[in-house]
Amino acid sequence: MPDGIPRLETDRLLLRGPSSEDADAYVRFYRDAEASHYYGGPLRADQAWKRLAQDIGHWRLRGYGLWMIEERRTGEVQGGCGLLWAEGWPRSELTWWLLGEARGRGFATEASRAVIAYAIRQAGWDHVETHMDDRNEPARRLALRLGGQVIARELFPDGKERNVYRLAPAGLP
Ligand SMILES: CC(C)(COP(=O)(O)OP(=O)(O)OC[C@H]1O[C@@H](n2cnc3c(N)ncnc32)[C@H](O)[C@@H]1OP(=O)(O)O)[C@@H](O)C(=O)NCCC(=O)NCCS
Repeated sequence: MPDGIPRLETDRLLLRGPSSEDADAYVRFYRDAEASHYYGGPLRADQAWKRLAQDIGHWRLRGYGLWMIEERRTGEVQGGCGLLWAEGWPRSELTWWLLGEARGRGFATEASRAVIAYAIRQAGWDHVETHMDDRNEPARRLALRLGGQVIARELFPDGKERNVYRLAPAGLP
């Protein structure tokens, strides 16, 4: 744990802290307008690098953050998953992004279960929440797969209303 960030392992995945070596994955994700549509993209390479810097800094600022998702079989980065709390936003949220070609294989579900287990068992959180744009159907399906239940409809600081899902710790690995 050279960066102080815990490493989490699942059947197929290694979750580890982000580093400068992940810049290429960030650039590839954010230049794909379709893949990054509900995640603030598309972004230029310099803007994607700032997102990586932000995700690395979040660990220092909050003590938790986003892990890189590596497929153990290949060692390739497939995306990111973790717990983020943007300054000014009401609470933390479980968040995910996968490279376009990494979708539809259950990686986000598998990574999320490990992150929720970490939050509840290691970090002592009471529960984990998430929220997404109403039109982000893959993210909504993912929240439901994770046992998510809508606990509120809230107006967020960006002026958009979103459903807030509470993710059940039941069924953790
Ligand atoms: C949100 C996002 C991470 C969901 O990705 P995803 O690939 O659909 O989710 P998973 O990796 O959990 O894969 C689940 C899908 O793979 C299928 N699948 C295949 N093999 C699987 C396996 N071994 N285990 C579980 N699911 C599997 C599931 O049936 C499911 O497909 P379905 O939704 O069509 O039923 C992805 O769409 C993304 O990166 N979006 C851009 C970023 C974003 O919008 N993030 C959310 C912001 S709020």
